[in-house]
Amino acid sequence: FYFYLDLPQEGRRNLLLTSALPYVNNVPHLGNIIGCVLSADVFARYGRLRGWNVLYVCGTDEYGTATENKAREEGLTPQQICDKYHAVHAEIYSWFQVDFDFFGRTTTPKQTEIAQDIFWRLHERGFLLEDTVEQLRCEGCRRFLADRFVEGGCPHCSYPEARGDQCDKCGKLINAVELKNPLCKVCSKTPIIQSSKHLFLDLPKLESQLEQWLDKSTAAGDWTPNAKQITRSWLRDGLKPRCITRDLKWGTPVPHPDFKDKVFYVWFDAPIGYLSITANYTDQWEKWWKNPEQVELYNFMAKDNVPFHSVVFPSSLLGAQDNYTLVNHLVATEYLNYEDTKFSKSRGVGVFGDMAKDTGVPSDVWRFYLLYVRPEGQDSAFSWADMALKNNSELLNNLGNFINRAGMFVTKFFEGCVPAMELLAEDKTLLAQVGWELRQYISLMDKVKIRDGLKHILNISRHGNQYIQINEPWKKIKGGDQDRQRAGTVTGVSVNIACLLSVLLQPYIPTTSRTIREQLNAPAACVSTMLHAGGSFVCSLPAGHAIGTVSTALIAFVFKRLAGGQVKVKVAAPVAVNDGAVVSGADPERAKQLMQAVAEQGDKVRVLKGQKAEKAAITLEVNKLLDLKKQLALAEGKSAEPTAPQKGKKK
Ligand SMILES: *[C@@H]1O[C@H](CO)[C@@H](O)[C@H](O)[C@H]1NC(C)=O
Ligand SMILES: *[C@@H]1O[C@H](CO)[C@@H](O)[C@H](O)[C@H]1NC(C)=O
Ligand SMILES: *[C@@H]1O[C@H](CO)[C@@H](O)[C@H](O)[C@H]1NC(C)=O
Ligand SMILES: *[C@@H]1O[C@H](CO)[C@@H](O)[C@H](O)[C@H]1NC(C)=O
Repeated sequence: FYFYLDLPQEGRRNLLLTSALPYVNNVPHLGNIIGCVLSADVFARYGRLRGWNVLYVCGTDEYGTATENKAREEGLTPQQICDKYHAVHAEIYSWFQVDFDFFGRTTTPKQTEIAQDIFWRLHERGFLLEDTVEQLRCEGCRRFLADRFVEGGCPHCSYPEARGDQCDKCGKLINAVELKNPLCKVCSKTPIIQSSKHLFLDLPKLESQLEQWLDKSTAAGDWTPNAKQITRSWLRDGLKPRCITRDLKWGTPVPHPDFKDKVFYVWFDAPIGYLSITANYTDQWEKWWKNPEQVELYNFMAKDNVPFHSVVFPSSLLGAQDNYTLVNHLVATEYLNYEDTKFSKSRGVGVFGDMAKDTGVPSDVWRFYLLYVRPEGQDSAFSWADMALKNNSELLNNLGNFINRAGMFVTKFFEGCVPAMELLAEDKTLLAQVGWELRQYISLMDKVKIRDGLKHILNISRHGNQYIQINEPWKKIKGGDQDRQRAGTVTGVSVNIACLLSVLLQPYIPTTSRTIREQLNAPAACVSTMLHAGGSFVCSLPAGHAIGTVSTALIAFVFKRLAGGQVKVKVAAPVAVNDGAVVSGADPERAKQLMQAVAEQGDKVRVLKGQKAEKAAITLEVNKLLDLKKQLALAEGKSAEPTAPQKGKKK
């Protein structure tokens, strides 16, 4: 008899959380990390604190041309590439303390089984169409070009570097053959058009069912405004049949005999990964995925993924008619920019997961800053200078200072035991303020407003610092009985607020939170009692409670490593990167400027290397150099590689 704690349970809120599956052929950057895996992690941790039954699954998305291509580049098989990068992703997320219940992958027998089952169900119910498609084929590379491997002018807005599936500028979907002046991104040749037979999901036939379900889901659930708006605009334009097959080898095989040499297109296949990854975790996966009555599904993603989760995937599941759990809450972030530009994997611009780790800054500080600037409701930017500023002003001067002082007073003035508290009106006012902030925190976090929730935590410690500042317990302790008692009350109230803060911080900075609770010797139950009291303040460290051995600074332990980490914050402003257009033909004037820029950047790199500067800082400058060289090659009329293979992942 097995008792599965991780299955949905009667009488509890059962939350199934997914984060968009990161694509396996690359090292994730900070924008990817905050956009889905980290955001979902914070909510999963919060949900567990609330006593909900949470299952958080994610994994690497491993099929598709990009993997085949990477394999060719690195001289490995696609499977070897997947194995290698799956491990890279897993390690980075683990360093960031992303606490998945299971981090799987899509290249498994379960994926084949479940994807093919959904396919046959759609087929039997008449939701698939056959059609002949014109496709771009590169004679140079001797293969059909997947959407990401062709670039050209957008047929809608004329943006010159639109991808084969979507334009980054206007966001509209594109049929690759409609691109103006298409070019193969691998060899820069002009592809030809060739036709081939494919299968399509009949979205128009599913549209009215989909709309009915969307009306219900968006009304009852927490969909971010961007998710609702993007979905509405898709439906307003009317749905068209969508191709679900591709002429590739590296994918889930299409089981239909007429389409033997084809695989499922990643956008049909990848979201099925959520189900198959869960199936790899527990053979009772259907208790999560075919249980819409008991389970609430949260999908986390960046906004570019919205239509596939709100329109395409739900349509597949509705059409398959197998009582699937469909998304109840669709949580989409906006974009995180890097300084004044965009993160770019191919150009190596930005901070990548492995670089973050190499800086020596603890992952709690990264988490704190990324969550502080989470692109919630609007785009935001990562900036080194701002990270240093927030580290000092919020994490250390505000939060660290308050918690540290509260603990120190107990240790220094009261022999490590929480003193008796006699609350005056002033203390009650403070506790009422704290209670108000706590209720805001809870109601925001319940709605997955993670960045806003953090602001209320910081305001609690701001109130606390003011309270200590006004009451000056370090002076009162030297006074008469009444003053000494006042010092005791202020200390007792403060250390209890510190304990509350450690609980509220747990989803954001888990290591620091645990350290604080250990040092306060806080009872394990305080975690739930503090969140279960309907938002009123609970005293969980009563008079007489002995806190742990806190000799000096309470959370200095956590931040000490920072001082030795020697993070050089003086990273130069990012170089103005080429706007990315594929330049054909030489441009001697620009080449001359770029030659100068390459020489200067080369000097800068040599100086940094000579000084044995931080690896991260050198990598950043080297990436800029590579980028400039690439631009120079283009300006000189040579063809540049679309991606420099070592960029961004080189340690
Ligand atoms: C998935 O399960 C299969 C067999 O059940 C196992 O061989 C495989 O290693 C698992 N894969 C992952 C990524 O957990
Ligand atoms: C779907 O699953 C729910 C459990 O969540 C069950 O109560 C219901 O009967 C099922 N409906 C169908 C049509 O199978
Ligand atoms: C954070 O602040 C500490 C203490 O002032 C400092 O030593 C450390 O370098 C800072 N870290 C970052 C990343 O700015
Ligand atoms: C937090 O406090 C600051 C300063 O007192 C105030 O400006 C801000 O509006 C408060 N934030 C929230 C979310 O209440």
